[in-house]
Amino acid sequence: MDFPMFHLDWLNDRFLIAVIAILHVIINHGLAVGFIPYITWLEYKGVKNAKSDEITNIEWDTLIYKKMKVAFIITTTIGAMTGVGIWFSAALVSPSSIGSLIRVFFWAWFTEWIVFVTEVVLILIYFLTWKNSNKSMKAKMRHIRFGWFLAIFSWITMALIVAILGFMMDPGSWHTTKSFFSGIFNPIYLPQLFFRTPTAMLIGGMFGLLLTSIIAKKGSEFRTTAIRYAGKWILFWTPFVLVAATIYWSVMPEAMKANMSTAVGTMEFELYYDVLKYVIISSVSLALIIAIWAVIKPKTVKVWMVIVPFVFVIGFLGIFERVREFIRKPYVIGGYMYSNLLREEDYPLYKQDGILKYATYTTVSEITEENKVEAGKNIFMLTCSRCHTTQGVNSITYVFERMYGVGQPLDTTSMSGYIPNMHVGRTYMPPFPGNARELNALSAYIKHVQQTNEPLEGVQVTGIKVNPKNSVTATVKMLEDKKSKKVN
Ligand code: HEC
Repeated sequence: MDFPMFHLDWLNDRFLIAVIAILHVIINHGLAVGFIPYITWLEYKGVKNAKSDEITNIEWDTLIYKKMKVAFIITTTIGAMTGVGIWFSAALVSPSSIGSLIRVFFWAWFTEWIVFVTEVVLILIYFLTWKNSNKSMKAKMRHIRFGWFLAIFSWITMALIVAILGFMMDPGSWHTTKSFFSGIFNPIYLPQLFFRTPTAMLIGGMFGLLLTSIIAKKGSEFRTTAIRYAGKWILFWTPFVLVAATIYWSVMPEAMKANMSTAVGTMEFELYYDVLKYVIISSVSLALIIAIWAVIKPKTVKVWMVIVPFVFVIGFLGIFERVREFIRKPYVIGGYMYSNLLREEDYPLYKQDGILKYATYTTVSEITEENKVEAGKNIFMLTCSRCHTTQGVNSITYVFERMYGVGQPLDTTSMSGYIPNMHVGRTYMPPFPGNARELNALSAYIKHVQQTNEPLEGVQVTGIKVNPKNSVTATVKMLEDKKSKKVN
């Protein structure tokens, strides 16, 4: 409420973050964290397997270099842009939560930026000096060492960010201590990091297998060897993924149960949870099958055979992120701030006085019969718009019509009866924070949207409107009134 509300009504604000974030995670895990150690290992194998009079086998080295080139181009363009894009979009859609996270994790983020910049420098060195390093054994070994450094730094950036992601799911003892380290070592952090690490390696290996099957010349000896190595890499990491998934599974429900206000109505949660379970099992099995095949019969591996397990593994990562985001609801920061950006501890105040009174940005602060719809629009923006639109994905008229009958005129009394209890049956929604007049104004607005199909514009279109009661002019006037009262 302290920030102007950006809103994309034709899409959905959460959807915007999700698209950018999922694309980023696929590139980060598949082509950086998991891929760099895999490539460095292959580069090293080239040196190890070379004839005694050569530094490395040039044909082999060229194949590995080409694979690295793909990763280099994608990670330094789409990868880097979506990485920054996550924080841009999240800060636009959810400024209060990012604000809170920065206060807790300032030094973690500060460190992450330094590590990230180092990572960029290292990838430039690693990729751009590759060809030159083939001139002497010393240079080649130094180059390989840079590969390992790069791998470590890529992992550290992930390790820092995972701490923040775990914190958002369950801050654990931070609730009482409010200390930096209890925030970092939240209950979900280490299990999640342990799960993401082998998963990234597995996906890196799948990318490697796919790229090899596309790039390497058909029938060449190098293709066979490279495919076999990719198979071995995947086989090595798969058991870790399974063990880590089991551990992650065992800590998650415990931590999440505390967030669930009721045991009933968690159907959606369980549904996604089950989907994740089956997708993990089937993608890991498919990865195992193709990996075993690649080790035993590398010559027969074709591109199309790799594509199916590859798509499954990528799908598994995407669904994993979706579940991670979903089970956190109704909170954006577990037990502290709801997804509508309002802090749980401020709720009693809002319930009593209404939210418009405390909003910094609203066009209405006093509800009258004339401005009811306009007031409702502000209330919708403040309490529903982070998850609902009026015309796009998860539109508010769509969800109400689904309950009361598609195409039927919405009834304000029924809506006003439903909204104060919506969090009971649908635990992923935060409770409605406003008072009774605000509730009626919100229902009037939703009915108005159904009648007119009026889209809801964010502050990027409408510009900023400061609460008339909280504006500078209002404050100055209040102070002057006080003064004149004293004088009199
Ligand atoms: C944290 C995100 C979030 C917020 C904030 C939120 N909702 Fe929802 N809401 C959802 C999701 C997710 C669904 C499920 C959509 C689906 O099943 O397709 C939903 C569904 C609904 C439904 C349909 C419920 C049903 O049983 O089918 C209604 C009605 C609704 N929301 C109203 C509101 C209103 C009014 C507000 C604001 C006061 C609001 N929501 C705020 C996420 C949210």
